[in-house]
Amino acid sequence: MPELRQLDGLLLTEPRAIGSYRVVRPIANGGVGTVFLVEGRSGARFAMKALHEHLRTTRLAAALGAEGRLTLGLALENVVCAVDVLDRANVDSGDGRQGVIDNVDGAPAIVMPFVEGQTLDVLAAADRSAQWRVLLDALHGLAACHAVEIVHRDICPSNLLIDATGAGHLIDFGLAWSPKGYVTDPEGGTQGTFAYLAPEQVRAEPPTPQVDVFSCGVIAWEVAAGRRLHAYGNTARTLLDVTGRDAPSLADDCPPALADVIARALARDPAKRIGSARTFACELREALTSCGALI
Ligand SMILES: Nc1ncnc2c1ncn2[C@@H]1O[C@H](COP(=O)(O)OP(=O)(O)O)[C@@H](O)[C@H]1O
Ligand SMILES: [Mg+2]
Repeated sequence: MPELRQLDGLLLTEPRAIGSYRVVRPIANGGVGTVFLVEGRSGARFAMKALHEHLRTTRLAAALGAEGRLTLGLALENVVCAVDVLDRANVDSGDGRQGVIDNVDGAPAIVMPFVEGQTLDVLAAADRSAQWRVLLDALHGLAACHAVEIVHRDICPSNLLIDATGAGHLIDFGLAWSPKGYVTDPEGGTQGTFAYLAPEQVRAEPPTPQVDVFSCGVIAWEVAAGRRLHAYGNTARTLLDVTGRDAPSLADDCPPALADVIARALARDPAKRIGSARTFACELREALTSCGALI
C-alpha cells in the first residue's frame, strides 16, 4: 500500500517516484498541487510542484506547464526558477499501480531548486530585521523579473522563502504575466491573495510591474506595523478596502522617513506609486539604514 501522510489536514497518497525523480516527502500542499522534496538520478535534491491527482485536467496542466516554462533556464538572483518541466511522467504509486501522466499541452510537474527554510508568513513572529532583509531580497528578485518582462502578480508572504542564511527567494509564478500572456487565464475569476493585491489588479486592468511594487508595499506596511493590514482575509470586504481606502498611516509605528517610503509604495494610483521595484528597494534600504532597523 502507498504510504499515507497527513499534511495541512489532508491525507495524501505519496507517490514513490514521479518521472526519474524519487519522492522523498511532501513539503507543502497548495491549491492545485503538492510540492514534494525529490531526488534526481545524481542524488541532488529538488523541490517538485506536481498537480493533485484528481486535478490533472487539461486546463490546470496547461497552466502548470506555462508556469514552469516561464522561468525554465533563467538564472535570476533571489528567484527560484524552474530547472526541469516534466511533459510526461511515469508515476509509481508504490502499490503496484503505475500511471502515466501525459499531457501534450501542459505539464504534470515542475522541478526547481529546493530552498530549505520557511516562508515569510511563518517567520512573521521572528525579528523584524530578518523580515526586512527578506523583503529587500524579494524586491531585488522582482527587479530581475521585471527586467525580463515577467510580472509576478502574486507577491504575498507564503510566496517568499527564507533560506538558512536568511536570504529571501521568490517562488510561485502560477499567476504571472509576461508578453507571452498569462500563466493562468485571468477570466477564471479574481486570483491571488486578496490582501496583497494592488487596486488595479482587483479592477482587472492590464498588468504592469507596479502591481508587484504595491504588494511589497503591503508586506512592508505589515512588517513596520507588526500586524496585518487587512483583517478580513480573502473576502469581498478586503477587496473593497484594497480598492477604496488608503492604508492607515504608520506615523505611530515607525520613523517618518520609513513611513513615507511605504506610503508611496502603497499609492492606490499606480502613476503616483514608487516607480519600480529597484527604486523601492533603494529607498527602503536607505530609510531602514538611517533608522538602524537593519542589523
Ligand atoms: N523551491 C521550493 N523549496 C522549498 N519549498 C517550496 C518551494 N516551492 C514551494 N515551496 C513550498 O510549497 C508551498 C506552495 O508552493 P507554491 O509554488 O507557492 O504553490 P501554490 O501555487 O499552491 O501557492 C510554498 O508556500 C512553500 O512552502
Ligand atoms: Mg503560493
